[in-house]
Amino acid sequence: MNKINSLRWIDGALELLDQRALPLRVDYLRYNNAADVAQGIRQLVVRGAPAIGCAAAYGVALEALRLQHQARDAFIAGLDRAMSILAASRPTAVNLFWALNRMRARLDASFDHALPAIAADLLAEAHAIADEDVRLNRAMGAHGAALLANNARVLTHCNAGALATAGHGTALGIIRSAIEAGKRIEVYADETRPFLQGARLTAWELQQDGIPVTLIADNAAGLLMHRGEIDAVIVGADRIAANGDVANKIGTYTVAVLARRHDIPFYVAAPLSTIDRATVNGEAIPIEERAAEEVLGYGGTQWAPAGVAVKNPVFDVTPADLVSALITERGALSTPDRAKIAALFDA
Ligand code: MRU
Repeated sequence: MNKINSLRWIDGALELLDQRALPLRVDYLRYNNAADVAQGIRQLVVRGAPAIGCAAAYGVALEALRLQHQARDAFIAGLDRAMSILAASRPTAVNLFWALNRMRARLDASFDHALPAIAADLLAEAHAIADEDVRLNRAMGAHGAALLANNARVLTHCNAGALATAGHGTALGIIRSAIEAGKRIEVYADETRPFLQGARLTAWELQQDGIPVTLIADNAAGLLMHRGEIDAVIVGADRIAANGDVANKIGTYTVAVLARRHDIPFYVAAPLSTIDRATVNGEAIPIEERAAEEVLGYGGTQWAPAGVAVKNPVFDVTPADLVSALITERGALSTPDRAKIAALFDA
C-alpha cells in the first residue's frame, strides 16, 4: 500500500509532487535552492503540515550544498537568509518552524566543521526528519487503528494522507493501518472548499491504494451524520495549542460541531511536532488568509462575479472540548486538555 511520494531526493535535488496538478497530472518539479522551495510551499506545490516541514528542511540542505564552496561568512549569512525565507512561506503549520529549528540546532552542532561537512550534516538531518515522519505516522496509525471498528464509515476533511506527509499519512495513516490490520473501512471525503484538497488529493490518494472512498460536498456532512451514515471523524492538524485547541483546514470546526451534535467521535491525528506548547490557546494561532482567486474559481475557471468582496481564511480552530481523542505517536489521548498535553511531553 501507499506508493505515493509527496517529496523525494533524487540526484542531489529535491523533487516535489506538484499537488496543484493532481489528480489530472502526476508531475514532479525539481528544486535546487531554498528560495524556490519556499515558493513551492507558498504556492501549495507541497502542502500539509508535516510535508511542509520536510520540504523546508530539504530547502535548508539545498542551500548549504549550493553555498558550501563560498567563504564561511557568506555561507552562514546565506543559511540565515534561507531559513528566514522559508519561515515566511506559510504561517499556520507549526511543523515548518519546528523543522527549521531542528535544522538550526544541527547547524549549531556542526558549526566547527568544514563547510562541505556541515552541508552533508544538514542533508542527513533533512533525511532523518523525513524518515522519522513516516515512522511516527506508522506508530500513530497503529494507535488510531484500534479506535476504529470493522466496517467503520469514517469522514475526513482536507488531505492528511501520504500527500501531506513524507508517507503513510496522519489521519489517512490510521485508516491505512486499520485496513492493514484486516478491518474494512469506508472513507467519506469532504471535498474541502476552496482548494479542494479532499476532492483532488484525498479521493485520488485513496483510489491509488484501492481504499473505498466516497466524495461528498462539504455541506453534505450534516445530512450523512443525521442519517447515521458516519461512525467516526478523523482529521489531521496544522498546529495544536498548549490547551489542545486544534487549527486545521477551514471547515474542520464545522465538522467537529456536527460530530458533537450527532454523538460521533471526532479524532485528531498529529505528531508531537504539531503541538506548539508556546501557543497558549487557539486564539493565538495565526490563521493564514489566501488570495481571493481561490474562492472565485479554480483551475482557470471563474464562477463568481468579478469584483465581489471575498474573505479566504484557510484554517479554523476547533476548541479542545470538541476533540474526543488526540492520536499522537505516543498513543491516543482522550479528551485532551492542557494538563494531559503537558504530561505527554514528560512521558
Ligand atoms: O493548506 P494545506 O493543504 O496545507 O492544509 C493542510 C491541512 O489542513 C491538513 O489537514 C493538515 O496539514 C494535516 S496534514 C497531515
